[in-house]
Amino acid sequence: MAQQMEEDPWQKAYDIAVQVAKTAGEEIRKAGESEIRVMTKSSTVDLVTKTDERVEKIIIGSLKKEFPSHCFIGEESVAKGEACVLTDKPTWIIDPVDGTTNFVHGFPFVAVSIAFAVNKELEFGVVYSCLEDKMYKARKGKGAYCNDELLQVSDVKDINKSIIISEHGTDRSPEKVTKIFSTMKKILCIPVHGLRGSGTAATNMCLVASGAVEAFFEIGIHCWDIAAGAVIVQEAGGILLDVDGGPFDLMSRRMVSANNDIIAKRIIKEIEIFPAVRDDEPVQKQ
Ligand code: IPD
Repeated sequence: MAQQMEEDPWQKAYDIAVQVAKTAGEEIRKAGESEIRVMTKSSTVDLVTKTDERVEKIIIGSLKKEFPSHCFIGEESVAKGEACVLTDKPTWIIDPVDGTTNFVHGFPFVAVSIAFAVNKELEFGVVYSCLEDKMYKARKGKGAYCNDELLQVSDVKDINKSIIISEHGTDRSPEKVTKIFSTMKKILCIPVHGLRGSGTAATNMCLVASGAVEAFFEIGIHCWDIAAGAVIVQEAGGILLDVDGGPFDLMSRRMVSANNDIIAKRIIKEIEIFPAVRDDEPVQKQ
């Protein structure tokens, strides 16, 4: 029994994460039925609502009750000035409403994203696409699932037969937008079958994991957008790389997730990289 516990020390945390994600998703669905008050964060297109803040409090509150010694990185807590540093301690990485713009507009893809890391390694990820009622989840070494169905990435190796996802992010500086569109144009003209974007990075990664698309890449995402999806993609047989082809770095705000390394490297050839301040960069005090 003791040996079993050692082999699987985070099962309870995983089960609780799934429950908490479900509850959070129900709150988001209900909130979407009434009037949504919209505020902005880093720019006029970086939206946040009372629901984001309330749902984050529900998620962190429930998890803290069970795991009082753990650390938490939550999108809205960081926006309010909390540190965004991943240490070796057990740490939960949370996006209460991934796809806030979708939520505000009634565009039907909104996800709760909850990941858990120990010694800076992701142990599990849960993404609840709450308007579709799809619960994606994965534990390191134990496979990825959607509503209990095993997930497997696509086996397409020919970029000409692929669908690629990317997003525009929330930075509208003309230089960045030019690079984003130039990259998209080059990928579209390879040619690929299509370019898509669901408006939630977490869901995009689950689409890679389920084989609906071959890859998703973005510069400008945050660790809470992609941490849970990262486990789900890898457990479904996919890969994660930096946009320059180097190793994936959760805090770097850039990532390519793909079904295989042939597709990933072909896309990487076309990506025009622009700078993004790391999530764990110390905040400059004025
Ligand atoms: C955003 C979504 C979007 C991505 C942005 C993220 P949020 O997250 O994941 O798909 O393009 O970079 O910031 O703000 O809705 O949690």
